Amino acid sequence: MILVTGATGTVGRSLVDRLVAAKVPVRAMTRRPAAAGLPAAVDVVAGDLGDRGSIAAALRGVDRVFLLSTGPDIPTHDANLIREATRADVAHVVKLSSGRTGDDTATDPIPSWHRRGEQALRDSGIPGTILGPLGFMANALHWADSIRNRDSVFAAYGHGRIAVVDEHDIASVAATVLTTDGHDGRTYRLSGPEALTPAEMTAVLADVLGRPLRFLEVEPAAARQAILDHGLSEIMADAIMALRATALESFTSVVHPTVQEVTGVRSTSFREWATRHLADFARV
Ligand SMILES: NC(=O)c1ccc[n+]([C@@H]2O[C@H](COP(=O)([O-])OP(=O)(O)OC[C@H]3O[C@@H](n4cnc5c(N)ncnc54)[C@H](OP(=O)(O)O)[C@@H]3O)[C@@H](O)[C@H]2O)c1
Repeated sequence: MILVTGATGTVGRSLVDRLVAAKVPVRAMTRRPAAAGLPAAVDVVAGDLGDRGSIAAALRGVDRVFLLSTGPDIPTHDANLIREATRADVAHVVKLSSGRTGDDTATDPIPSWHRRGEQALRDSGIPGTILGPLGFMANALHWADSIRNRDSVFAAYGHGRIAVVDEHDIASVAATVLTTDGHDGRTYRLSGPEALTPAEMTAVLADVLGRPLRFLEVEPAAARQAILDHGLSEIMADAIMALRATALESFTSVVHPTVQEVTGVRSTSFREWATRHLADFARV
Protein backbone atom coordinates (compact mmCIF):
# COMPACT_ATOMS: atom_id res chain seq x y z
CA MET A 1 0.00 0.00 0.00
CA ILE A 2 1.31 3.44 -0.95
CA LEU A 3 0.28 6.48 1.12
CA VAL A 4 0.01 9.65 -0.97
CA THR A 5 -0.01 12.96 0.92
CA GLY A 6 -1.02 16.08 -0.97
CA ALA A 7 -3.28 13.76 -2.96
CA THR A 8 -5.84 16.46 -3.74
CA GLY A 9 -3.24 18.91 -5.10
CA THR A 10 -1.57 19.51 -8.44
CA VAL A 11 1.09 16.78 -8.33
CA GLY A 12 -0.52 14.39 -5.83
CA ARG A 13 -3.78 14.06 -7.76
CA SER A 14 -1.90 13.20 -10.94
CA LEU A 15 0.18 10.65 -9.00
CA VAL A 16 -2.95 9.02 -7.56
CA ASP A 17 -4.41 8.64 -11.06
CA ARG A 18 -1.21 6.96 -12.28
CA LEU A 19 -1.05 4.54 -9.36
CA VAL A 20 -4.74 3.66 -9.71
CA ALA A 21 -4.26 3.05 -13.46
CA ALA A 22 -1.36 0.73 -12.60
CA LYS A 23 -3.66 -1.08 -10.12
CA VAL A 24 -1.37 -0.29 -7.18
CA PRO A 25 -3.22 -0.07 -3.83
CA VAL A 26 -3.31 3.62 -2.83
CA ARG A 27 -4.29 5.41 0.35
CA ALA A 28 -4.75 9.19 0.16
CA MET A 29 -4.49 11.47 3.18
CA THR A 30 -6.46 14.72 3.13
CA ARG A 31 -7.79 17.18 5.68
CA ARG A 32 -11.19 17.07 3.96
CA PRO A 33 -12.04 13.54 2.79
CA ALA A 34 -15.61 14.49 1.81
CA ALA A 35 -14.35 17.12 -0.63
CA ALA A 36 -11.42 15.08 -1.99
CA GLY A 37 -13.15 13.85 -5.17
CA LEU A 38 -10.67 10.99 -5.58
CA PRO A 39 -11.29 7.80 -7.61
CA ALA A 40 -13.36 5.08 -5.90
CA ALA A 41 -10.39 2.68 -5.85
CA VAL A 42 -8.52 4.99 -3.45
CA ASP A 43 -8.66 4.47 0.32
CA VAL A 44 -9.26 8.08 1.40
CA VAL A 45 -8.38 8.85 5.04
CA ALA A 46 -8.62 12.02 7.12
CA GLY A 47 -5.25 13.30 8.24
CA ASP A 48 -3.20 16.42 8.85
CA LEU A 49 0.59 16.57 8.64
CA GLY A 50 0.46 18.73 11.77
CA ASP A 51 -1.22 15.92 13.73
CA ARG A 52 1.08 12.94 14.39
CA GLY A 53 -1.77 10.73 15.61
CA SER A 54 -3.58 11.08 12.30
CA ILE A 55 -0.35 10.34 10.41
CA ALA A 56 0.23 7.18 12.49
CA ALA A 57 -3.30 6.00 11.68
CA ALA A 58 -2.87 6.74 7.97
CA LEU A 59 0.40 4.75 7.91
CA ARG A 60 -1.14 1.47 9.16
CA GLY A 61 -0.35 -1.24 6.59
CA VAL A 62 1.61 1.18 4.39
CA ASP A 63 5.06 0.32 3.02
CA ARG A 64 5.81 3.32 0.80
CA VAL A 65 4.99 7.02 1.13
CA PHE A 66 4.82 10.06 -1.16
CA LEU A 67 5.51 13.05 1.08
CA LEU A 68 4.22 16.44 -0.09
CA SER A 69 4.21 19.38 2.32
CA THR A 70 3.80 23.08 1.67
CA GLY A 71 4.76 26.49 3.04
CA PRO A 72 6.43 27.45 6.32
CA ASP A 73 5.21 24.18 7.92
CA ILE A 74 7.39 22.06 5.61
CA PRO A 75 10.14 21.38 8.21
CA THR A 76 7.68 20.44 10.99
CA HIS A 77 5.32 18.47 8.76
CA ASP A 78 8.17 16.53 7.12
CA ALA A 79 9.64 15.75 10.56
CA ASN A 80 6.22 14.53 11.77
CA LEU A 81 5.70 12.22 8.80
CA ILE A 82 9.25 10.89 8.88
CA ARG A 83 9.12 10.22 12.63
CA GLU A 84 5.87 8.24 12.27
CA ALA A 85 7.16 6.47 9.13
CA THR A 86 10.20 5.31 11.13
CA ARG A 87 7.93 3.92 13.86
CA ALA A 88 5.76 2.22 11.21
CA ASP A 89 8.80 0.59 9.52
CA VAL A 90 8.02 2.19 6.18
CA ALA A 91 10.31 0.85 3.43
CA HIS A 92 10.62 3.96 1.24
CA VAL A 93 9.71 7.67 1.38
CA VAL A 94 9.67 9.85 -1.74
CA LYS A 95 9.78 13.53 -0.81
CA LEU A 96 8.65 16.23 -3.23
CA SER A 97 11.15 19.02 -2.62
CA SER A 98 12.45 22.00 -4.61
CA GLY A 99 14.88 21.86 -7.52
CA ARG A 100 16.77 24.70 -5.87
CA THR A 101 17.86 22.86 -2.72
CA GLY A 102 20.94 21.78 -4.69
CA ASP A 103 21.93 25.41 -5.23
CA ASP A 104 23.95 26.49 -2.17
CA THR A 105 23.35 30.14 -3.02
CA ALA A 106 19.56 29.66 -2.75
CA THR A 107 19.06 30.84 0.84
CA ASP A 108 15.50 32.12 0.37
CA PRO A 109 12.68 30.51 2.40
CA ILE A 110 11.24 27.76 0.17
CA PRO A 111 14.47 25.82 -0.60
CA SER A 112 15.56 26.42 3.01
CA TRP A 113 12.35 24.85 4.35
CA HIS A 114 12.73 21.90 1.98
CA ARG A 115 16.44 21.37 2.87
CA ARG A 116 15.39 20.75 6.49
CA GLY A 117 12.84 18.16 5.34
CA GLU A 118 15.41 16.47 3.10
CA GLN A 119 17.87 16.35 6.00
CA ALA A 120 15.26 14.81 8.31
CA LEU A 121 14.67 12.08 5.72
CA ARG A 122 18.43 11.39 5.36
CA ASP A 123 18.88 11.38 9.15
CA SER A 124 16.00 8.92 9.63
CA GLY A 125 17.77 6.11 7.81
CA ILE A 126 14.56 5.27 5.90
CA PRO A 127 15.41 4.53 2.25
CA GLY A 128 14.40 7.72 0.49
CA THR A 129 14.32 9.57 -2.80
CA ILE A 130 14.15 13.34 -3.27
CA LEU A 131 12.33 14.84 -6.25
CA GLY A 132 13.47 18.41 -6.94
CA PRO A 133 11.37 20.05 -9.64
CA LEU A 134 12.05 23.54 -10.97
CA GLY A 135 8.99 25.78 -11.53
CA PHE A 136 5.74 24.00 -12.39
CA MET A 137 4.15 24.72 -15.79
CA ALA A 138 0.91 24.80 -13.77
CA ASN A 139 2.01 28.14 -12.28
CA ALA A 140 0.90 29.63 -15.63
CA LEU A 141 -2.67 28.93 -14.52
CA HIS A 142 -2.28 32.00 -12.27
CA TRP A 143 -2.39 33.99 -15.53
CA ALA A 144 -5.71 32.44 -16.60
CA ASP A 145 -7.94 35.30 -15.36
CA SER A 146 -5.94 38.09 -16.99
CA ILE A 147 -5.60 36.10 -20.22
CA ARG A 148 -9.33 35.32 -20.34
CA ASN A 149 -10.47 38.84 -19.43
CA ARG A 150 -7.68 41.17 -20.64
CA ASP A 151 -5.64 39.15 -23.17
CA SER A 152 -2.66 40.00 -20.98
CA VAL A 153 -0.04 38.41 -18.75
CA PHE A 154 1.39 40.46 -15.87
CA ALA A 155 4.56 39.13 -14.24
CA ALA A 156 7.67 40.37 -12.44
CA TYR A 157 11.24 39.48 -13.39
CA GLY A 158 10.45 39.26 -17.11
CA HIS A 159 14.01 38.33 -18.11
CA GLY A 160 14.21 35.33 -15.80
CA ARG A 161 14.28 31.92 -17.43
CA ILE A 162 12.94 28.78 -15.80
CA ALA A 163 13.10 25.28 -17.27
CA VAL A 164 9.48 24.75 -16.23
CA VAL A 165 8.25 21.17 -15.78
CA ASP A 166 4.83 19.59 -16.38
CA GLU A 167 3.18 18.46 -13.12
CA HIS A 168 2.19 15.20 -14.87
CA ASP A 169 5.89 14.49 -15.56
CA ILE A 170 6.69 15.01 -11.87
CA ALA A 171 3.88 12.59 -11.01
CA SER A 172 5.18 10.06 -13.56
CA VAL A 173 8.64 10.19 -12.00
CA ALA A 174 7.10 9.76 -8.53
CA ALA A 175 5.00 6.78 -9.70
CA THR A 176 8.07 5.14 -11.24
CA VAL A 177 10.18 5.70 -8.13
CA LEU A 178 7.41 4.35 -5.87
CA THR A 179 6.87 1.19 -7.94
CA THR A 180 10.35 0.20 -9.16
CA ASP A 181 13.69 -0.52 -7.47
CA GLY A 182 16.98 1.35 -7.63
CA HIS A 183 16.04 4.82 -6.44
CA ASP A 184 17.15 4.72 -2.78
CA GLY A 185 19.35 7.65 -1.82
CA ARG A 186 18.86 9.36 -5.18
CA THR A 187 17.98 13.03 -5.75
CA TYR A 188 16.28 13.72 -9.07
CA ARG A 189 16.26 17.33 -10.26
CA LEU A 190 13.35 17.68 -12.67
CA SER A 191 12.80 20.16 -15.49
CA GLY A 192 11.01 20.46 -18.78
CA PRO A 193 12.83 20.43 -22.13
CA GLU A 194 13.58 24.18 -22.37
CA ALA A 195 14.06 27.28 -20.22
CA LEU A 196 11.53 30.01 -20.96
CA THR A 197 10.93 33.60 -19.87
CA PRO A 198 7.37 34.66 -18.95
CA ALA A 199 7.24 36.60 -22.23
CA GLU A 200 8.19 33.48 -24.21
CA MET A 201 5.56 31.45 -22.35
CA THR A 202 3.02 34.18 -23.18
CA ALA A 203 3.96 33.91 -26.87
CA VAL A 204 3.44 30.12 -26.78
CA LEU A 205 0.04 30.57 -25.11
CA ALA A 206 -0.96 33.19 -27.73
CA ASP A 207 0.03 30.84 -30.54
CA VAL A 208 -1.86 27.89 -29.08
CA LEU A 209 -4.93 30.03 -28.29
CA GLY A 210 -4.84 31.63 -31.73
CA ARG A 211 -5.19 35.20 -30.46
CA PRO A 212 -2.67 37.93 -29.55
CA LEU A 213 -1.66 38.30 -25.90
CA ARG A 214 0.32 41.13 -24.31
CA PHE A 215 3.12 40.51 -21.83
CA LEU A 216 3.53 43.32 -19.29
CA GLU A 217 6.35 43.28 -16.77
CA VAL A 218 5.27 44.59 -13.37
CA GLU A 219 7.27 45.78 -10.37
CA PRO A 220 7.96 43.10 -7.74
CA ALA A 221 5.91 45.12 -5.19
CA ALA A 222 2.84 44.93 -7.44
CA ALA A 223 3.33 41.19 -7.97
CA ARG A 224 3.65 40.71 -4.20
CA GLN A 225 0.41 42.64 -3.64
CA ALA A 226 -1.34 40.42 -6.20
CA ILE A 227 -0.29 37.35 -4.19
CA LEU A 228 -1.68 38.94 -1.00
CA ASP A 229 -4.92 39.84 -2.84
CA HIS A 230 -5.15 36.16 -3.74
CA GLY A 231 -5.42 35.41 0.00
CA LEU A 232 -1.91 34.12 0.74
CA SER A 233 -0.05 35.12 3.92
CA GLU A 234 2.74 37.73 4.09
CA ILE A 235 5.24 34.92 4.78
CA MET A 236 4.19 33.05 1.64
CA ALA A 237 4.08 36.25 -0.46
CA ASP A 238 7.65 37.07 0.54
CA ALA A 239 8.78 33.48 0.00
CA ILE A 240 7.20 33.33 -3.46
CA MET A 241 8.66 36.70 -4.50
CA ALA A 242 12.12 35.63 -3.29
CA LEU A 243 11.69 32.47 -5.34
CA ARG A 244 10.60 34.40 -8.44
CA ALA A 245 13.65 36.66 -8.16
CA THR A 246 15.85 33.59 -8.55
CA ALA A 247 14.50 33.14 -12.07
CA LEU A 248 17.18 35.73 -12.93
CA GLU A 249 19.85 33.18 -11.93
CA SER A 250 21.21 30.55 -14.26
CA PHE A 251 20.41 27.68 -11.87
CA THR A 252 16.70 27.76 -12.72
CA SER A 253 17.38 27.62 -16.47
CA VAL A 254 19.29 24.33 -16.38
CA VAL A 255 17.55 21.62 -18.41
CA HIS A 256 17.79 18.23 -16.68
CA PRO A 257 17.37 14.95 -18.61
CA THR A 258 15.93 13.19 -15.53
CA VAL A 259 12.27 12.83 -16.53
CA GLN A 260 13.26 10.73 -19.54
CA GLU A 261 16.01 8.89 -17.66
CA VAL A 262 13.63 7.76 -14.92
CA THR A 263 10.39 7.20 -16.87
CA GLY A 264 11.70 6.40 -20.36
CA VAL A 265 9.42 9.12 -21.77
CA ARG A 266 10.68 12.54 -22.90
CA SER A 267 9.59 15.51 -20.84
CA THR A 268 6.54 17.52 -21.94
CA SER A 269 7.06 20.86 -23.68
CA PHE A 270 5.26 24.00 -22.54
CA ARG A 271 3.44 24.02 -25.91
CA GLU A 272 2.08 20.54 -25.20
CA TRP A 273 1.10 21.57 -21.69
CA ALA A 274 -0.64 24.73 -23.01
CA THR A 275 -2.54 22.70 -25.62
CA ARG A 276 -3.79 20.38 -22.87
CA HIS A 277 -4.93 23.42 -20.86
CA LEU A 278 -6.58 25.42 -23.68
CA ALA A 279 -9.94 25.48 -21.90
CA ASP A 280 -8.40 27.14 -18.81
CA PHE A 281 -7.36 30.17 -20.87
CA ALA A 282 -10.30 30.37 -23.31
CA ARG A 283 -12.51 33.49 -23.23
CA VAL A 284 -15.75 32.89 -21.31
N1 LIG B 1 4.81 25.49 -7.78
C1 LIG B 1 6.08 25.34 -8.12
O1 LIG B 1 6.58 25.95 -9.08
C2 LIG B 1 6.94 24.40 -7.32
C3 LIG B 1 8.24 24.15 -7.75
C4 LIG B 1 9.06 23.26 -7.02
C5 LIG B 1 8.55 22.66 -5.88
N2 LIG B 1 7.27 22.93 -5.47
C6 LIG B 1 6.76 22.28 -4.26
O2 LIG B 1 5.61 21.51 -4.59
C7 LIG B 1 4.79 21.44 -3.43
C8 LIG B 1 3.38 21.86 -3.79
O3 LIG B 1 2.84 20.88 -4.65
P1 LIG B 1 1.40 21.06 -5.31
O4 LIG B 1 1.39 22.33 -6.10
O5 LIG B 1 1.06 19.79 -5.98
O6 LIG B 1 0.49 21.27 -4.03
P2 LIG B 1 -0.93 21.98 -3.98
O7 LIG B 1 -1.64 21.82 -5.28
O8 LIG B 1 -0.74 23.35 -3.41
O9 LIG B 1 -1.70 21.09 -2.92
C9 LIG B 1 -1.32 21.07 -1.58
C10 LIG B 1 -1.72 19.72 -1.00
O10 LIG B 1 -1.23 19.65 0.33
C11 LIG B 1 -2.27 19.18 1.18
N3 LIG B 1 -2.09 19.80 2.48
C12 LIG B 1 -1.97 21.12 2.77
N4 LIG B 1 -1.84 21.29 4.10
C13 LIG B 1 -1.87 20.05 4.66
C14 LIG B 1 -1.79 19.56 5.99
N5 LIG B 1 -1.64 20.40 7.04
N6 LIG B 1 -1.85 18.23 6.19
C15 LIG B 1 -2.02 17.37 5.16
N7 LIG B 1 -2.11 17.77 3.86
C16 LIG B 1 -2.04 19.10 3.63
C17 LIG B 1 -3.57 19.57 0.50
O11 LIG B 1 -4.52 18.59 0.83
P3 LIG B 1 -5.95 18.86 1.51
O12 LIG B 1 -6.28 20.32 1.33
O13 LIG B 1 -6.87 17.93 0.75
O14 LIG B 1 -5.78 18.46 2.93
C18 LIG B 1 -3.21 19.48 -0.98
O15 LIG B 1 -3.46 18.18 -1.47
C19 LIG B 1 5.44 22.34 -2.36
O16 LIG B 1 6.25 21.56 -1.54
C20 LIG B 1 6.29 23.26 -3.21
O17 LIG B 1 7.37 23.83 -2.48
C21 LIG B 1 6.46 23.77 -6.17
